[in-house]
Amino acid sequence: MPYYHTLGQIPRKRHIAFRKPDGSLYHEQLVGIEGFTGPAALLYHLYPPTTVQSVRRVRETPYEADPDKTLRHRHFRTAPITRGGSPTLDRVPMLFNTDIAMLYVAPEKEDEHFYRNAQGDEVVYVAEGEGTLETQYGDLPFTRGDYLVLHRHILHRYRFTKPAKLLVMESRGHVRPPSRYLNAVGQLVEGAPYSERDIRVPRELKTHDVTGEFPIIIKQYNGLNEIVLDHHPLDVIGWDGQFYPWAFNIHDFEPIVGRVHQPPPVHQTFQGDGFVICSFCPRPYDFHPEAIPAPYNHSNVDSDEVLFYASSEFMSRKGIEYGSITHHPDGIPHGPHPGRYEASIGQTHTNELAVMMDSFRPLKVAKAILPYEDPKYMYSWVEGGQGFAPPTS
Ligand SMILES: [Fe+2]
Repeated sequence: MPYYHTLGQIPRKRHIAFRKPDGSLYHEQLVGIEGFTGPAALLYHLYPPTTVQSVRRVRETPYEADPDKTLRHRHFRTAPITRGGSPTLDRVPMLFNTDIAMLYVAPEKEDEHFYRNAQGDEVVYVAEGEGTLETQYGDLPFTRGDYLVLHRHILHRYRFTKPAKLLVMESRGHVRPPSRYLNAVGQLVEGAPYSERDIRVPRELKTHDVTGEFPIIIKQYNGLNEIVLDHHPLDVIGWDGQFYPWAFNIHDFEPIVGRVHQPPPVHQTFQGDGFVICSFCPRPYDFHPEAIPAPYNHSNVDSDEVLFYASSEFMSRKGIEYGSITHHPDGIPHGPHPGRYEASIGQTHTNELAVMMDSFRPLKVAKAILPYEDPKYMYSWVEGGQGFAPPTS
């Protein structure tokens, strides 16, 4: 986590008696990773977090791969995906490997249950919508363009004030700011494209003193499990530490530009194990008088490239639309579409907005996204070729 934070009441020292007004003890809980040595938080509950009344396996959530392994560039459109279901139970898997999975959901309802992913960190890009994430660490309001960084185990529930479309990136490893952005004490350095002031953390802690039956859905062993707790899980009176949910808005990313084209690592926003996440934001173009702002053709050796287009404009692509996802696998070069290279010369700025996830191991396409595929994309670089299938929305 970016830095130490605390909310509510905590005792003067850790692991000492901390009493309620009636003289009984609050219940201390450490939530930390890497075996008591990694980032951690200490939470103080009204009730023990252990009083589970029942457990059950709800269902499996396997990611099934497209059986057609033909190597090709691919294009999927999320816009036609029907709004429906729950933000945590009805996610559509799109691409995945053992390090990272990308899923999409446009929920039509809020959850009654709370949710915890025990097998992965989640970075949730809010493509549309607005609301508040209720967590044991306090409320975290969110809006369009936010990345919500929900480390594994963090209990949460979405509350929407505007209908949402969420791009979920589920990571086997721990998601963090790129290490080159951090100095020896973990502070974001001056040259980083964002600073601590851009990171939003829970600021309002709501403590619920309610008993009853409270279901919690937990993702573990590639499936959903339900436990029923005998009290409201948001019963935290105070906490401190460096393990908590946080948010960062894509428009707070300060683009790094140059006289000539800058490579994608200047757009890096997060680091994971086996992948990176980058933000392509509105920015001035390269300013050498002969600069070609569109990217050169490139072979993404040792990585698969996935782009989610958060606006319908992207400097090097045509035929994509808002909500498009392109997958450029390792093995076939890619680059600007015909005409885009020449047309970019002399342009002064771009309004593109896109989230890129580059995985270091090959990705599989999920069967669930196949109905939304544009099958002609592979040939869209051929002048006078098949071009694109017409948009469906
Ligand atoms: Fe690329």
